Amino acid sequence: MKIAILSDIHSNGDALDAVLENAQAEGAEAWWCLGDIVGYGAEPDKVVDRVRELGAVTVAGNHDWAACGLVSTRMFNRHAAFAADWTARHTNAQNLKWLAGLPLVERRENARLVHATPSAPAEWNYCMMIEDAVLEMEAFDELVCMIGHSHYPGVFEKDGEDIRYTRAAELRLRAGRRYLANVGSVGQPRDGDPRAAYASYETDTGLLRHVRVTYDVEAAQAKILAAGLPPFLASRLAAGD
Ligand SMILES: [Fe+2]
Repeated sequence: MKIAILSDIHSNGDALDAVLENAQAEGAEAWWCLGDIVGYGAEPDKVVDRVRELGAVTVAGNHDWAACGLVSTRMFNRHAAFAADWTARHTNAQNLKWLAGLPLVERRENARLVHATPSAPAEWNYCMMIEDAVLEMEAFDELVCMIGHSHYPGVFEKDGEDIRYTRAAELRLRAGRRYLANVGSVGQPRDGDPRAAYASYETDTGLLRHVRVTYDVEAAQAKILAAGLPPFLASRLAAGD
């Protein structure tokens, strides 16, 4: 089965459209969504509707729950807090209820799905360094844990006691090892590449691919500015940071 894994869409409908078109053309048969569907961008209802229509296996992100009032924005920077408040006021009640009901963790196909980290899904920690991955690798027993949150695609691979990190575009997951895979961000990439990011995973072969898709950044920026959201949230899309 070929699965498209999307994370951190962040209300960017233009980026999501481009990713869905690409993944459908590549033959995606199932969809996993790792949270932060909303927050930052201008089209929360559009992206939530799309994810719901896909029937994606979905976990909650901190921005999803911030929009529902389930996560405090005290730890958010001022742009993120403003966007969370805006999102709460511009998302329909049905979609807010759906976001509020999302689980923190899902398990499918020998994979664990969580927005932030498997060791403490509700703490919204970041796993960026090998030192962080040492603890996280012990927190799940599936072959792979798929994560988002940092908006930075890359994979930690545990082989025996060794843990390596790779940003290779393709990696074959091997039985007997363990993987923590960050699929990057559809709607607000932060690795210096403004193209939308998602991952494709073939369960039969173990092939995990990081995919980048060009989308209409200017259209997404214009919607953010027209909505009265902070201009920084528009300008950063062009820089991919
Ligand atoms: Fe995010």
